Parts: sequence; C-alpha cells; structure tokens
Amino acid sequence: MSHYFTNDYVKSDKHELNVIVKDTKLKLIVDGGVFSKKGLDFGTRTLLENLDLNKINGDVLDFGCGYGPIGLYLKKTVNCQVDMVDINERALALAKENAKINDVKVNVFKSDIYENVTKKYNYIITNPPIRVGKKILYNILFGAKKHLKENGELWLVVNKNQGAKSLVKDLAEDYEVMVAAKNKGFYVICAKNR
Ligand SMILES: C[S@@+](CC[C@H](N)C(=O)[O-])C[C@H]1O[C@@H](n2cnc3c(N)ncnc32)[C@H](O)[C@@H]1O
Repeated sequence: MSHYFTNDYVKSDKHELNVIVKDTKLKLIVDGGVFSKKGLDFGTRTLLENLDLNKINGDVLDFGCGYGPIGLYLKKTVNCQVDMVDINERALALAKENAKINDVKVNVFKSDIYENVTKKYNYIITNPPIRVGKKILYNILFGAKKHLKENGELWLVVNKNQGAKSLVKDLAEDYEVMVAAKNKGFYVICAKNR
C-alpha cells in the first residue's frame, strides 16, 4: 500500500486549491500521493492560525513540507528565510511549483529526516508525519534540537488521538514546552531549545 510519505507511484489527480489563512491567500497545486490533497489540513490550518507572526523571523525550516502550505504562508507573511524539506518527490515538485505560482523565494530540497539539513534555524515548524511510527516521529522531533539555534523553537501540531498529551510530556524532557493552542483535539505545541 502506498502512503503519502513514500515515493511509490500513485495516480495523478492534479488540481488547484485556493486557500485563505487569516488574510493571506495562497494558490496551491496538489496531487494524488501527497498529504491532504482535498484541501488544507485542519491541523495545518490550526498551526498556522496560532503562530505568532510578530515574533517569527530569521531562518525557518518547514519540515515535511508536503505541497508547501506552511513554508509558503510564512514566506508570504513574515520577513524570513525559508527552507522546506520532504522525503516525497511529488510533494517537493509541487512545493517548488507552488513557490513560483505564489511568487515567493524559498529553498526546497529532499531530505529523509535531517540527512540533508546542514543549517541551524530560529524556527522549525511542522505538521509531522504520524503514520511513520513513534521511532521516526521521535527522531524528527528530538532530532530538531540539533538544527535549532539557541532559544530556537520547534512548533508542531498533533491531535490528542495521536498522542498529543504524552508527546507534550516526552518533549518536556529535552525542551521547554508550551501548549500554545487547542482546537477540536489539535494541540499546537511550542518546544523551545533550552
Ligand atoms: C502530515 S504531512 C504534512 C504536509 C504539509 N506540511 C501540510 O501541512 O500539508 C507530513 C509530511 O512529512 C513528510 N515525511 C514523512 N516522512 C518523512 C521523512 N522521513 N523525512 C522528511 N519528510 C517526511 C511526508 O511526505 C508529508 O509530506
């Protein structure tokens, strides 16, 4: 069975979404075989709506960018440099195409977890892949520490059905953790590098 995070062939179903987050409009091309192709994921929307845009600046990593809603939204609304990574080739191609369509300059590249990530960031922002299992998920979330500057922040969204509460506890072993928002079971979590 193919998952959105694999590179197996999945039938193409390319179409355009018109997405509005707060006052920002994005046109996003999506396709079969990528996460949330029917519309902006509710968890991703909750995350974006609860970021403090007045605070975000510097270097930002959109981890697991999919077709690009997080990184492109941030580049459109905030003065920052955005890198976007994913393991899924089709998602990466869409993210690049969407950057062009929305007229923003971002740096999109393939990485399995952080294998091709060399920089340190002020912010790592992610709607992380849950279905990859706890081991990989924790490699992503705890591995972020190495790629955050001092006082850098990892922001993520996780549903309580996907273990948000225990994740908050576990993250607190390595980070200073705050639950920034809760909406319909989704937790927006900020984990600060201390
Ligand atoms: C929940 S989706 C979020 C996609 C997009 N950011 C959004 O909000 O619509 C998680 C993303 O993580 C990517 N991913 C899964 N495993 C990965 C890995 N080992 N390294 C990098 N990205 C991975 C998937 O391909 C997928 O695009």
